[in-house]
Amino acid sequence: MAQQEDGGAPPGRASTAGARLWRAAADTLEANWVGVATVPSATQYPHQWSWDSAFISIGWSVLDPARARVELESLLAGQWSDGRLPHIQFNPAVPEQAYFPGPSFWASKAHPDGPAVATSGLVQPPVHARAVLTAVQAGLGTGGTGRTGSKAALDFGRAAYPRLLAWHRYLRQRRDLGGDGLVALVHPWESGLDNSPVWDAPLAAVSRPGAAAFTRRDTLHVGAAERPTDRDYAAYVSLATAYRDSGYDDRAAGGLEFVVADPLVNAVLLDAELCLARLAELLGLDPSGHSRAAHELHEAMLAGLYDADRGIFCARDLRTGRLLPAATLAGLLPLLDPWLSEEVRIRLLERLVSPGFLGGARFPVPSTAMDSPDFDRRRYWRGPTWICTNWLLALAAGTAGRGELAERIVRSGLDLVGGAGFREYFDPVDGTGLGAHEFSWSAALTLDWLAHPVGARPPRPG
Ligand code: SER
Repeated sequence: MAQQEDGGAPPGRASTAGARLWRAAADTLEANWVGVATVPSATQYPHQWSWDSAFISIGWSVLDPARARVELESLLAGQWSDGRLPHIQFNPAVPEQAYFPGPSFWASKAHPDGPAVATSGLVQPPVHARAVLTAVQAGLGTGGTGRTGSKAALDFGRAAYPRLLAWHRYLRQRRDLGGDGLVALVHPWESGLDNSPVWDAPLAAVSRPGAAAFTRRDTLHVGAAERPTDRDYAAYVSLATAYRDSGYDDRAAGGLEFVVADPLVNAVLLDAELCLARLAELLGLDPSGHSRAAHELHEAMLAGLYDADRGIFCARDLRTGRLLPAATLAGLLPLLDPWLSEEVRIRLLERLVSPGFLGGARFPVPSTAMDSPDFDRRRYWRGPTWICTNWLLALAAGTAGRGELAERIVRSGLDLVGGAGFREYFDPVDGTGLGAHEFSWSAALTLDWLAHPVGARPPRPG
């Protein structure tokens, strides 16, 4: 275990219940720690996942900033030479059959850009710069409970910074598949919101030749009614196979059957560029390129993804050119953008408090609007409330100057984990826990909420 610098005691909301939750969250992270990283779930996801690891490190930054650094260093060690951060980094000690699709499916080691460790070839939402900034600030004692370790924190930031530059360059250049300044995704798993109804229309057009050739393992530990359907899985495998067989070549993406630009990923990247600007300042570097990049994303999202008629951002299918109209929380996350006009911000906030989201759910924020025909309260990303998206939405509501909404979103998250434990996701109607048990990011982000009551969050960078 890395040496503990500080933290470990529950500050902030230190009621008895809060202290119990704190201890349970710390125990969950400890149990899922495998020496250099933290698995999302020992049974369901026994490797290192990209955006999970970033969120998990935010919990470690609260408990033990040195451990946060180890988590992120091991994540960054999986970076490809083209800059991509793969969505899974495989633990060689875990048997191939523990997770499908495993290392032999992705064959990253046979790829000239692949790293020494086996990984997937897809990406996930770029929350990493925020995670690195949080770890650096925690080590410096400006953003967390840590006080010592300033040199280690800055050394870590200095080593991570060029990696993050390469990662963002990959996304903004290699993945600008529409030539419109937006990051495009080539697989639903890259969105983080795997089986969101937003992807139903593009997935309906995908051929599924791989359907008979694999065995699902994700339904061994979690009920099939809480996971994507077999039909969706067949499309996921087919798309991943085609991308792998193209040599993970984004220049060949014109031949792929799924190419979309999504508001969650682009809004998170905008936030990540602002975090890089802040990190650059801490390192004595020029932050202006990052602020410019963030502003370019602001303009590209507004031009390409805003549905002014409906007052929400939408994904765009780059194969058909059409906006994909399903109302999901991804469309609200451009509230992370500090340059939104008053008009757009107010419309998004109206949508956030509407009956489909905060206004109608006892345990918000549902991943799909509850008043939409696609809403399914228990199935993966088609309705349940998730702790990581509540965390992002609370950050977004705070950015929009609505601290009381952020507080409601955090309170809902704490009620959910307090009532049902650190489950992977939750029924927004009655708070039932769903998916994997002892889920790491649910525990990690609970720690962050307990340590930093919303009103006292560190100021936004940029
Ligand atoms: N989230 C996907 C899964 O359920 C893949 O990253 O396994």
